[in-house]
Amino acid sequence: MKQIDEAIKAREKAYVPYSKFKVGAAIELKDGTYIHGANIENASFGLTNCAERSALYSLYSQGYQKEDIKSMTIIANDHGPVSPCGACRQVMHELLPKGTKIILANTQGKTLETTPDELLPYAFILDEKPNE
Ligand code: THU
Repeated sequence: MKQIDEAIKAREKAYVPYSKFKVGAAIELKDGTYIHGANIENASFGLTNCAERSALYSLYSQGYQKEDIKSMTIIANDHGPVSPCGACRQVMHELLPKGTKIILANTQGKTLETTPDELLPYAFILDEKPNE
C-alpha cells in the first residue's frame, strides 16, 4: 500500500538517540504528493517533535493548505497500530480537514483507520482564527 510505504520512508528519517523509537508520518495530497514527517528528539526531552506534528508543520511551511490534504498515515514498531499522543491529536484536529482518513499502522502490518474527530472528541477550537 503506497501510503504505508511512504510512512515507512518517512520513519527512516527519525532522529531518536534517546528513545530509539522511530515514528514516521506521511501525508498524501490530492495531487499525489507525499509530505513526510519523523520524530525529532532533543537532549532537552520536552522539545521533542513527534512525527505527526513534524509532517503537518512541514506541509504548512511549504505553502500547502488543509484543502490539499487527502489522507495521513503514521507508522512505528509498536505492539499495535501506533496511537498519536494527545498533543498531536489536538494539532491534527485543527490542521487536517474534517473527516480526513487517518491510517494508524505498525511495522508488523497491523492497521486501523480513523478520523480527527474520532481521535479527539470535544477538541478545543478557538472561534477567532489566526490570519483573519
Ligand atoms: N512519538 C511520535 O513521534 N508520535 C507518536 O504518535 C507517539 C510518540 C515519538 C516521541 C518520541 O520521540 C518517541 O516517539 C517516544 O515517545
